[in-house]
Amino acid sequence: MSNDLKLYIQTYGCQMNFRDSEALKNLFLKYGFLITNNLDSADVILINTCSVRAHAEQRAFSFLGKLKRLKEKKHRVIGVIGCAAQNYKERIFKRFPFVDLVVGPANFYKLPSLILNLKDKVLEVDFEKEIDALYTFDSNREFTNPAYVTISRGCSNYCSYCIVPYVRGELVCRDPQNIIKEIKDLVERGIKNITLLGQNVNDYSYQGIGFLELLKKITKINGLEEVGFITSHPKNISKELIIFMAHNPKVRKHLHLPLQSGSDRILKLMERGYTSKEYREIVDFYRKQIPEGKLTTDIIVGFPTETEKDFELTLNLIKEIRFDAAYIFKYSPRPYAKAARFLKDDVPIKEKERRHSILLELQKRISLEKKCLKL
Ligand code: 5AD
Ligand code: SF4
Repeated sequence: MSNDLKLYIQTYGCQMNFRDSEALKNLFLKYGFLITNNLDSADVILINTCSVRAHAEQRAFSFLGKLKRLKEKKHRVIGVIGCAAQNYKERIFKRFPFVDLVVGPANFYKLPSLILNLKDKVLEVDFEKEIDALYTFDSNREFTNPAYVTISRGCSNYCSYCIVPYVRGELVCRDPQNIIKEIKDLVERGIKNITLLGQNVNDYSYQGIGFLELLKKITKINGLEEVGFITSHPKNISKELIIFMAHNPKVRKHLHLPLQSGSDRILKLMERGYTSKEYREIVDFYRKQIPEGKLTTDIIVGFPTETEKDFELTLNLIKEIRFDAAYIFKYSPRPYAKAARFLKDDVPIKEKERRHSILLELQKRISLEKKCLKL
């Protein structure tokens, strides 16, 4: 039954956030809301934020700042949800007094009823174990290729630069039965190519079922044509997983394996749990097993104390490995993260920018060469 309230969601950040916004829209539809792409006509505006890097957070806040005028024209509900909600909590109400709701990533499933019963300002930022409720009602999805299927929320790895464990909470995994049901529903509606999402899929664990077992079950779903997954952490990716990838025709031949740095000293400060040599060994094994397999990565430049020599180690490793693509980020100190608390952000911004553009250029050339070679 329609309640005639129009919802607009603005999303920032990673695939995980876009997937959550998609699931949220369908949850709101179940509660009788209408979805609109027109900000002006919306009765409810939600901003799904990302705090992983300072830049995405700033973009979300600058969008939020512009909503004040809209609210003055007509009463509407404005909610800040996701990472930045968790990060800043009630401080958001102080800085943006026109905001009605601040809701963290573990509480999304409550949003429709919170909004329908809204009286005062709402702050919901408890880390709950509930994860399936958000995705269970999601039977209205539009066709996307691939379709994203979230298998877990949060992360318990605590890499020293990373805010995720503090804003998305410790790792919570979905029941494999619900994941499989969601994928079967997708296949029935003709969506046969999916990508599984988790901060580190290798950490997936539900009542003794690990990621490889989950993946094996998923590949057995009739009609499913292709399954990929992001992200794999180099510290605990197993050879068995790579061997299974190599031999199962349904598993996409792509590994997203964030390196972050080629310097062992920096990797140690980042608390990543592997050395550059161990990283290279995984890559060698992967390429032996799946010579045609794609390999992509994430790199951070300008981590505290990173010298020219550390940077060159990263540069040389990128030259040696020749990734198909690399996402290159400038380090930004994030609240709560260990590096921000204990290490001075001492690489000047100009130097971060220089290192960033050198790696971007290098990777652009490698990606192009690799594409041309395949033609
Ligand atoms: N500064 C810069 N980049 C970061 N990332 C995570 N935290 C930070 C930070 N504080 C990058 C990492 C990660 C990707 C999702 O974002 O490379 O793999
Ligand atoms: Fe952050 Fe590390 Fe977890 Fe990735 S594995 S989300 S970088 S803490």
